[in-house]
Formats: sequence, structure tokens, C-alpha cells
Amino acid sequence: MPFSHASEAAPDTAPDAVPVELLEDATSAADAQEDAPDYRVLRYGVKEFPIGKLVAEALGVAGRLDRLGSATAAGERWVRENDQASAWHREFYAHFDDIRPAYLALIYGPVRKFMAEPFYYQAVPTFRVHLPGNVAVGEFHTDGQYGHPVGELSFWMPLTKAWGSNSVWIEGDPGSDRYAPIVAKPGEIAVFNAVELRHGNQANTTGRTRVSFDFRCIPTRLLRPTEAKSINTGMRFAPGGYYSESVVGAGFALA
Ligand SMILES: [Fe+2]
Repeated sequence: MPFSHASEAAPDTAPDAVPVELLEDATSAADAQEDAPDYRVLRYGVKEFPIGKLVAEALGVAGRLDRLGSATAAGERWVRENDQASAWHREFYAHFDDIRPAYLALIYGPVRKFMAEPFYYQAVPTFRVHLPGNVAVGEFHTDGQYGHPVGELSFWMPLTKAWGSNSVWIEGDPGSDRYAPIVAKPGEIAVFNAVELRHGNQANTTGRTRVSFDFRCIPTRLLRPTEAKSINTGMRFAPGGYYSESVVGAGFALA
């Protein structure tokens, strides 16, 4: 992997997310910019949608989420088969009912505005922990490789600062095999085409744990019947399965 262009920033000086305007300039500019990752930034208010706080409570973490696991040995590097299997993952999914109201408020608020057409959303988001010395996802991949339908958009939502090697690295163009990290912080969601752009992790050398979750939305007009199922949950990519039963953005009120 051509990761030599990676730049690391100290935790307190991690730059703000790259504004969409700059990314658009970058992707249309010189070859030197060809590694610019192709994502847009959706902003939300962390006070209005206190998801990081709710996740910390769900995990029983009193301190900062970016210190999660710092007192434990890094242990074996996670692989695809066990990257959803930690005690933190179990706690997140076991307590998701406590997080769901804020998640739905986010979906029916800022995400609905962003999508601007009727869509289904991932019923239960996917939780990630990127410990120092480890990865959060076991392999570089496209979500298309795992059967996700074309047209699905990924919403990658850091609950701690994400930069350099504690972030997700994504291709600038499908098939380019050249990567750069998403740089984002709580209050920002990076939206990208994970179905077609390869993405994955490096070993985290930042000294800070990244905690995040990600969810997918797909316009109703693009979702075709499929037998494909999520590799993590075994749920079919269908309304009432992997996706919400309800359509958002077609005049439905938040229940
Ligand atoms: Fe993925």
C-alpha cells in the first residue's frame, strides 16, 4: 500500500475536516492532489445530537473515548472475522436501544436534509474501535465486495478526533489503489461511496483510540431486490432487514 505520503498530526493540532469546496478544487486540480480522498462532510450539532455521550454511557466509559483501551495491551491485530467481536462492540449493540432515539433524530434531521430524496437507512449502525497498534476493520475492501448494493452511501461518523493512522483510508478514485485518510471530528460525518471506493485501516500509531460508527443510506429508487446479506449481521439488504422498514424523506414523521 502506498502509504508513504501519510502525515501525522499531534492530537491537539489535528486539522479540521477538509471543506467540501476545497475537496472539489483538489479533485479537479493537479496530479499532486490525486490522493485527496473523495468524501463530503455533513455537519451536525453535538449538543443537539449527543451521540458520543450516549455511546460512552452505553460502554460504561467514564473518561474520554479516545483513551479507550489505552490501559490494555494491544493484543492480536484484529482481522475481518473478529473486528466486531470485542467487549465494547457487545456493549454497544446490547445498549443500542438507548442510543436509537438520538440516532433517529440525526437520520430524520441532518441526514434527511443531506439526502434530499426518499431513502432507507441502516437500521443499526456499525460500531468501530481503532485501538493504538491495531486496526478497526480487518482488511481493505469495497463494500460492493461484500454484496452492498450500488447506490448506497456510507456515513462515517467519528466520536473522537480522526486523522492519520487512526482514521479510515479511502481511495481517491475507484480502482486507483491510492489512499488518504478522512480527517474529521465529532460534529462531522464523512459521506463517501464505500461500495466502489476501497477503504481500510493502517495500524494506529497516533497514540489515541478512534471510536466511530458508520451507517449507510440508499435512495429508495436505487434499491433493487437482492438475496445478498450483510457479512456482519446476516441481514438481507432489504427494508425491514439491514435497512429501515420506513422510508425517510417522504413525509413520514419521526415516530
Ligand atoms: Fe467498508
